[in-house]
Amino acid sequence: MTQTVTPPTVPASCDFTVFGGTGDLALRKLLPALYLRELEGQLPDDTRIIGVSRAELDDDGYRTAVRVALTSYVAADDLDDAAVDRLLGRLHHLMLDVEHPDDWYRLHDLLKDRPGSHETVRVFYLAVGPSLFGSICRNLDQIGAVNELARVVLEKPIGHDLASARAVNDAVGAVFTEPQIFRIDHYLGKESVQNLLVTRFANTFLEPMWNSHWVDHVQITVAESLGVGDRGGYYDHSGALRDMVQNHLLQLLCLVAMEPPSHIGRETVRDEKLKVLEALKPMTPSDVDRDTVRGRYTAGLVDGAAVPSYSQDLGYTGSSTETFVALRTEVQNWRWAGVPFYLRTGKRMDRRASEIVVVFKQPPHAMFPHSEGTTEPNRLHIQVQPDEGMRLHLTAKEPGPGGIRLRPVSLDLSYATAFEQRLPDAYERLLMDVIRGNPTLFMRRDEVEAAWSWVEPILTRWATSPDRPKRYPAGTSGPTAAATLLERDGRTWQETDR
Ligand code: BG6
Repeated sequence: MTQTVTPPTVPASCDFTVFGGTGDLALRKLLPALYLRELEGQLPDDTRIIGVSRAELDDDGYRTAVRVALTSYVAADDLDDAAVDRLLGRLHHLMLDVEHPDDWYRLHDLLKDRPGSHETVRVFYLAVGPSLFGSICRNLDQIGAVNELARVVLEKPIGHDLASARAVNDAVGAVFTEPQIFRIDHYLGKESVQNLLVTRFANTFLEPMWNSHWVDHVQITVAESLGVGDRGGYYDHSGALRDMVQNHLLQLLCLVAMEPPSHIGRETVRDEKLKVLEALKPMTPSDVDRDTVRGRYTAGLVDGAAVPSYSQDLGYTGSSTETFVALRTEVQNWRWAGVPFYLRTGKRMDRRASEIVVVFKQPPHAMFPHSEGTTEPNRLHIQVQPDEGMRLHLTAKEPGPGGIRLRPVSLDLSYATAFEQRLPDAYERLLMDVIRGNPTLFMRRDEVEAAWSWVEPILTRWATSPDRPKRYPAGTSGPTAAATLLERDGRTWQETDR
């Protein structure tokens, strides 16, 4: 029997305003996601999409740019002329300079100039740098655009450290109430990440073993084969810890470690995730020296092609920003006491793979001492991307006479074969959640700030430490020190085996 959870209702009308409407995120992710929901007939009938940017474009010019983007970023099989036309018909472009009061009044007029404007859900998506969040919100307030049906969506980075995150949250919170603020972490919209909750809490067999009695340790890896590309300007001020660990990796850790909430509700999941963040073992400076590794890629080979170093990508030398992080932490609570959680992420690694590996303890007693072969610990390997699915590694008897030979085998679940359907992109789910007003998969202020509180001692120690990021050639699994981090504990990184 399939069980469905009734989604919050779709409103009758919506004005979806994207600040940064001609930017990379809007064209590559947001508009294709809205198009794919249009294709499924899920957008409210009376929806307008208003791209706001400094570009000198009229509505038709914007429609042309978006048509090109859809052709580039939506799979050809999903392009349907009628649906494309319907989406383009919803588009408007407003040229706006944040500093220019008259421009804001043109936005005011556009929002007012529709029937039933007081019943229309207003989404303000800030696909712009965080330095603009405060002034955009203040201006929206000043033109009277913020009513009880308004919501604002914030893209990361939300701050650079705890103080700046608080400042962003204060500035946005002065205009929007917390339930109106949707802080996106797109990892939470990925199908396989949502499935983590279902795997843990809609089945019984894992839960009794999901604790320090049975779990030896947990590994979370988000490896990318791409470099920083043309995002060096942003990235060099951020680095892997801020760009990936403070948000995506800690969110994955929360979903692995959290207690079951009473139900999947808008606050219950977030309450449980917050408890995990608050239970993370605080890092002292000597913990940072011992339990974290940072690296930076040098030139190398990725998929057989020569790629430049980080400095060459940036176009200058002397940066001390890390493009790789590995660290060891613990969740200090009853369930997880003493279980290490190893996290690593990096650019220009040997593969693109996001995965969570839960490594169970060895059986308490060796029953097959004279058998050939080795027993490897059971592992649950959750493949977040690509090739979404999971694999449970077991030990089995190799068939045949002449004694017992132990061999590793696996039970395999591939989403592609189990469901035979396109997996929606994370933004498709998240944008619909914003329109429907469901904040469950968005980060609450206290979560963001708790994550920064935990990360900050690492940043502080790194800033004063004489050590520099360790080099690793592009196309490898990171600096050797990352392997040592586990070897020291008698463990190794579980590389993907698909
Ligand atoms: C973004 C980071 O949040 O996530 C990027 O800023 C990173 O640096 C990206 O490449 C990874 O997302 P995905 O969905 O491709 O794994």
